[in-house]
Amino acid sequence: MTEEGEGQAGRCPVRVQELPPEEEARLVTLGFKGYTGLVRTQPGGMLMKARYKEMAPRFYNFDFRPDDIVVMTYPKCGTTWMQEILWGMTHLDELDEADRLAISNRTHFIDSDALYRLEDQMKDRYVMERFRSLCPDGRPEQGIILQSCRAQPPHLTKPRIIKTHFPLSLYRPDLLDRCRVVYVCRNPKDACVSYHHHCRLINTYRFEGSFEAFTKSFMAGDVFYGRFWDHVAPAWERRRHPHLHFVFYEDLQLHGLQQLHELGRFLGLQLSREQLEMVAKHASFPQMKARDARVPMVLSSSTNGAVGGFFRKGITGDWSNVASAELDALMEEWVQEHAEPLGIRFKYAPCE
Ligand code: A3P
Repeated sequence: MTEEGEGQAGRCPVRVQELPPEEEARLVTLGFKGYTGLVRTQPGGMLMKARYKEMAPRFYNFDFRPDDIVVMTYPKCGTTWMQEILWGMTHLDELDEADRLAISNRTHFIDSDALYRLEDQMKDRYVMERFRSLCPDGRPEQGIILQSCRAQPPHLTKPRIIKTHFPLSLYRPDLLDRCRVVYVCRNPKDACVSYHHHCRLINTYRFEGSFEAFTKSFMAGDVFYGRFWDHVAPAWERRRHPHLHFVFYEDLQLHGLQQLHELGRFLGLQLSREQLEMVAKHASFPQMKARDARVPMVLSSSTNGAVGGFFRKGITGDWSNVASAELDALMEEWVQEHAEPLGIRFKYAPCE
């Protein structure tokens, strides 16, 4: 037992190396103006802020509880949508609460502690106040979200909904024996378009280069969270594990109610058709976008001219509106090379 609880800062086999200065300089030249002070992990090949290095054991050994629901995704694959669906399913009797608190504050984005110095982001007063009240002796440098999440009293709350973009390989191998994980995947072409927008929108990344440069970096894994395939493959390979539910963004759009029904079953919830419809409506794109305008998520937005906020379009197939034929050929080859051995067939059109 450590001072902070069993395993929190314990053994961790993840190796974390600083990115060589010339590599960082190359990324900055490509347009990633916020890419300074970075590290890469082994395994996972994940690119992250240097803060991750000292915190890796706290993530790796995080005390997940048996009733936790973890939403794990590569960025821009439908994380927030799934957070809202899961929150809706587990809070049917208090859906109005969503008009008071943003989804980011009704769930726990544990990676935040590696991405941001939250104590400097006084804009998110809710996060700091929750930390101070739940963890009066807490130490910010040990992770504000990590400690707040750990301190959430189990008897007072519904299941914790925990969001992470860290891949399975950066958690203890018994993660799936300790809680349930919902893994959301999206076709990499639309994920790339959405990620490009996000990196222009958010100050941490401050991308100012071309879409082509971004796409090539995305394919090379030179973006935060690293290579798409290093993230997707370990989850896909474990998709039959009874505690892992693998779902595609495109299927959520195409077969919403059927997907929600399967999700409810995975979580052991007995939800009627009427309740599933309520959740689908609560988590629909128009409702989430409108809610975000009333109760915005606190994002460290840049003024980089990225049009549209976090809830940009929410459609399948936007890649074909923005990629040149040449870029599409490059991306298609890359997708086939990696998706075929895994046996994944992505959908690229709204009604495929
Ligand atoms: P676009 O940028 O293509 O619009 P994440 O939450 O993983 O960051 O993913 C964000 C993407 O999911 C964005 O995609 C966003 O618009 C989309 N999204 C968010 N809520 C959605 C919903 N209810 N329905 C469909 N797409 C949604």
